[in-house]
Amino acid sequence: MLIREMSESDISQVSSIEQKIFSEPWTKDDFTNAIRCKSNGYLVVEINNEIVAYCGYWGIAGEGDIYNVAVKQEYRGQQIGYHMLTELIQHGISKGIASYTLEVRASNTAAIRLYERLGFQNAGIRKDFYTKPREDAVIMWLEPIQ
Ligand SMILES: CC(C)(COP(=O)(O)OP(=O)(O)OC[C@H]1O[C@@H](n2cnc3c(N)ncnc32)[C@H](O)[C@@H]1OP(=O)(O)O)[C@@H](O)C(=O)NCCC(=O)NCCS
Repeated sequence: MLIREMSESDISQVSSIEQKIFSEPWTKDDFTNAIRCKSNGYLVVEINNEIVAYCGYWGIAGEGDIYNVAVKQEYRGQQIGYHMLTELIQHGISKGIASYTLEVRASNTAAIRLYERLGFQNAGIRKDFYTKPREDAVIMWLEPIQ
């Protein structure tokens, strides 16, 4: 398993995973714009030359907003998400990001448990944050990181 920075040539594979998983998927242009911004960090996980997972943060004033956490269905439950996010957090720390936040659907217990395992804590609810289907978001924070 190789965890490395996302490059523009990865985006068609990333986008096809994104379309399968999310009801409001990011477009290829969304990913291209995200990875071109120097204050953001995006990683992919590769197994046998295939991208099986990806994630990223947007860095704003020393804070990382995590988006687009996804592991291909057939590769879940193998600690890939855990290792990928551990690496993403280290990546951000090396660029001066000391705390992280994210939103997650209130019903998404797999993701919430993953984030809790990484040390994130529940910091409140954003009512009706999501559409398709409409649902509250749980806001989570990880801070401060040494
Ligand atoms: C959430 C997701 C990224 C987890 O990835 P994963 O590689 O399967 O997770 P891991 O194998 O690294 O699991 C790490 C921890 O997460 C939690 N977890 C993962 N899957 C779980 C599940 N189905 N049920 C409960 N807890 C789960 C557990 O705490 C697990 O630790 P453990 O194995 O010691 O119990 C993956 O299920 C996914 O891509 N889901 C669809 C997209 C999504 O919901 N993204 C998050 C948007 S905010």
